Amino acid sequence: MKILGISAHYHDSAAALVIDGVPVCAVQEERMSRRKNDASFPIGAVEWCLHSAGLEPADLDAIVFYERSMLKFERILTCALRAFPRSWRSFPHAIKNTLGDKAWVRGIISSELGVPRDKILFTDHHASHAAAAFLTAPAQRAAILTADGVGEWATLTVGQGERRTDGTTDITLRREVRFPHSLGLLYSTFTAYLGFKVNEGEYKVMGLAAYGRPTMTEQILKVIRRLPDGAFVLVPEYFEFQTTADRSYSSKFVDLFGPPRHPYDPIDLESADGQRFADCAASVQRVLEDILVDIAARLRRETGLSDLCFGGGVALNGVANARILAESGFDRVFVPPAPGDAGCAMGAALYADRIYFRNADREVPDHPFWGPPADGARLAQTAREDNQDVVELGDDLLIARVAGELAAGRIVGWMDGACEFGPRALGHRSLLAAPHDTAMRDRLNRDIKRREEFRPFAPVVTAEDADRFFELPAAGARLARYMSGVFPVRREWRSRLAAVTHVDGTARVQVLDRSMAPRLHALLAAYGRGTGIPVLLNTSFNVAGEPIVTEAIEGYTTFRRCGIDLLVTGSTIVSKRATTTSSSKESGAWSSNGAAASSVA
Ligand SMILES: [Fe+2]
Repeated sequence: MKILGISAHYHDSAAALVIDGVPVCAVQEERMSRRKNDASFPIGAVEWCLHSAGLEPADLDAIVFYERSMLKFERILTCALRAFPRSWRSFPHAIKNTLGDKAWVRGIISSELGVPRDKILFTDHHASHAAAAFLTAPAQRAAILTADGVGEWATLTVGQGERRTDGTTDITLRREVRFPHSLGLLYSTFTAYLGFKVNEGEYKVMGLAAYGRPTMTEQILKVIRRLPDGAFVLVPEYFEFQTTADRSYSSKFVDLFGPPRHPYDPIDLESADGQRFADCAASVQRVLEDILVDIAARLRRETGLSDLCFGGGVALNGVANARILAESGFDRVFVPPAPGDAGCAMGAALYADRIYFRNADREVPDHPFWGPPADGARLAQTAREDNQDVVELGDDLLIARVAGELAAGRIVGWMDGACEFGPRALGHRSLLAAPHDTAMRDRLNRDIKRREEFRPFAPVVTAEDADRFFELPAAGARLARYMSGVFPVRREWRSRLAAVTHVDGTARVQVLDRSMAPRLHALLAAYGRGTGIPVLLNTSFNVAGEPIVTEAIEGYTTFRRCGIDLLVTGSTIVSKRATTTSSSKESGAWSSNGAAASSVA
């Protein structure tokens, strides 16, 4: 049976193809259209999925949309009417947006793909999140928690999933919290208040939180109130997202927390305002964690299960995930590589396969590499035509050469096979660099990423060596498989891992199993043999404002216009003729200059 899953029209559209119960490919539309967070109908992603499987739309048995668009329309309409006349300004915008795309999805899919309308199915938004988390996890039975901004009405659900021995599958979501009460929207409101872009800047709030102290949790608990049953409500007078598209927080919110940060104002952590913003980030982060830990602990007691599958955009919060693992009582916590709405394309397709069509359970490969491949031969041809230095080497020589270049302080664009599904580079579309000193972090920021200096870079380490460098709890390595947890760097290594250690001594580490990305694993091992530390800085292969590169040609054009020294795809290594060797030499692998904490804060 051939099932295509689609998510679209909110942010981060995607398509995923499941054949005979197993995913065969999946990709976000932004990786095809090259528009970051592209929310349009994912025609490029759909076409690539079908093409790569050799299918025509007519070959599909079903196309599954990741949410019930008419229910979502009902929610938008109901809320606008309830809030009238306060909502009158946002109402035309919401209706135009909804009527334009969201409500008429069946017609759009039918006409875009030329498939009969009766082949088009819909799942609940949070069922898609739940399926993306549970049906991709190596767990027979697990509790399920989903949390995001909002789907149709639900913003958080709890339940459980089971793969039975007779091959049938069950996902039951028992309870939900409904809009406008939403952990995702609470965090997004603070994202906007702190001057960052909603749906993109949430990582920045988490990064900034490490510079602050949770001194404002009492105020936060005035705007989100806990209920005796573990749920929560947002207190309406502090929020405006339900009534206007202009602003998500009210003047009463500003009275409570002070003036908001303007997006163009730099964050000066030495100033009173800068510290207030950092404390505010730390406080909302702490409250979010406390609520999630409490809900997860109740779910653990209620189900008696030892595994938790956690999905939805809130599951991108690695600090919260690590606390759930440490404090909720679950033995293992699984977060998929694409827990947000893009991942719902795969979740919806799997849900339809297992639950709607009642097809037998199949094991889903435990990796994130479902996207288009990068072609080394094509890269070599392009680079030669462009008069760059190209060498082609067998694996052993290539890995030894790249490890040496990394140890010499060079920045490597690393493209290996199929690209990742989800927001993180997990070793197939990564920029790699020596993790040892802060000069490398600053150089990456200056020449390539142009990020705020309070945002940390992440390390990748071989699974065999992870415990030596990072304080991982039991099952911490599993959470770190897809970079879903933030854990302490061991104190004795912090000064030698300064480029990847955050101000609070933690890192969002990826723990790499050899079987998941054997070439990167070999590179880490070779780097470790040369330097004694099998750890690399691993950040996504893109420049500021652009999606992660997909094909070799995009990697190449990115390499040509920023400070990447070396580009590797397949057996091809391209180096720049006029390189930035002076800055490379400055950041030699062993010239550690103290802990990140002292130089960033
Ligand atoms: Fe969602």
